[in-house]
Amino acid sequence: MEQLVKHPFAGASLARRRFLAAAVGVAAIPLIPLRRDAQAGTEPRLVEARLAPAPATVQLVPEQYPSTGVWAYNAAVPGPALRLRQGDRLRVRVENGLEEGTTVHWHGIRLPNAMDGVPDLTQPSIRPGESFLYEFTVPDAGTYWYHPHQHSYEQIGRGLSGALIVEEREPIRVDRDVLWVLGDWRLERDASIRGGFGNFMDLSHNGRVGNTVTINGRVPERFAVRAGERLRLRLINAANARIFGLRFLGHEPQVVALDGQPVEPHAPAGGVVVLAPAQRADLVIDMLGEPGSRHEVHDTFYRNLEYRLVDVAYAAEPPLRTQPLDASIRLPANPLSEPDLVRAERHDIVLTGGMMGNMGGLPRGMAWAVNGASSSCGSGTVIDPLLVLRRGRSCVLRLVNETEWHHPMHLHGHSFRVLARDGRPTRYREWLDTVLLAPRETADVAFVADNPGDWLLHCHVLEHQASGMTVCLRVA
Ligand code: C2O
Ligand code: CU
Repeated sequence: MEQLVKHPFAGASLARRRFLAAAVGVAAIPLIPLRRDAQAGTEPRLVEARLAPAPATVQLVPEQYPSTGVWAYNAAVPGPALRLRQGDRLRVRVENGLEEGTTVHWHGIRLPNAMDGVPDLTQPSIRPGESFLYEFTVPDAGTYWYHPHQHSYEQIGRGLSGALIVEEREPIRVDRDVLWVLGDWRLERDASIRGGFGNFMDLSHNGRVGNTVTINGRVPERFAVRAGERLRLRLINAANARIFGLRFLGHEPQVVALDGQPVEPHAPAGGVVVLAPAQRADLVIDMLGEPGSRHEVHDTFYRNLEYRLVDVAYAAEPPLRTQPLDASIRLPANPLSEPDLVRAERHDIVLTGGMMGNMGGLPRGMAWAVNGASSSCGSGTVIDPLLVLRRGRSCVLRLVNETEWHHPMHLHGHSFRVLARDGRPTRYREWLDTVLLAPRETADVAFVADNPGDWLLHCHVLEHQASGMTVCLRVA
């Protein structure tokens, strides 16, 4: 894998951070101007938005370097953050300004199958110049995101993604609610996006891991905070393939939600917040550093490739408060059905293939298999269900990674509880929609198949998704 330090603007390595001359703050993402039919009160509202995926030019790297041609929603990377409240109805018109077909998948939010955005499985592809209307009610609060589900490794890899934030009806008390959409790019020296999307090397190894990491579409230098404030930091990993392992030096973040779903508040294992592609984490951080001080945030996931992501920079002003805010950080649960583990049906989902694994006998262009078969999804591919689950049944899937690679496995239309890893019960039984399997690891996940339709289960390393690591589960 490439070192981040090859490009002067490509993130600041721990050793060579001085090369990054520009002082760029973490950009705030503009909220989309939303039309709401009722502003006040807690009544559910209809929230309308327009998303126009099309080529655009943005400044990913510091100002003294060139801008980058991308594909973007509404000319912004990431796309506009759609913010609504639990129970609201979202209506989004997607107008395709790309030269190829696209769709929008609303990652992690439970919705009707017809709104899931998988071409040919749940809707026809939106052709260039055409539009499609998505409309659904959001049952769960939390941090979600949206992205294309067609030719994903290139459409997402060129910049198409954005946040979908659903606020609790009664949110926890914080001073600031901050969003970091983490991006990862493979750039040339002139800051243009390197081609070669979908090459077999990327497909059969760890995917298209880039050389430039962005927060909210910019290579960041500092993140400005005030002493004493309490932050809710919503992290979204929108990268094709990069896994992050974030360490907030001098701070003690508490994880309060994973993949949008509340979790018992806890310090991350080993002090590192691990975030695989498509995963989200909501952190609560009390900013207890000294006014004027700086603290680094490191990404330590890949051994010997650690780098400094950004500095937390305290303003000189006196602390907002001297003691941490005395308020609960426990989020209210979402209305998910609890799986019945005694009566659940059980299935094994076995992942094989990849470099150093068994790729023999796989169809051309395929590098991975699930239960011995390779499929991808995307325009023109019909995918037969691997399993048919009776609606309302509880289901335990044992996901078995027999490869030498990491795979974040994502199930559409449902959240699942992670019951065990390698047979050992998990401490928090967290609800996720994307579970990261380490090489050779097994995870048992449970959910109630209560959402009818055909739902994909696939690796969210987008190159793996396209080269065999995709199956479909039918709930009927
Ligand atoms: Cu985030 Cu099937 O996708
Ligand atoms: Cu994978």
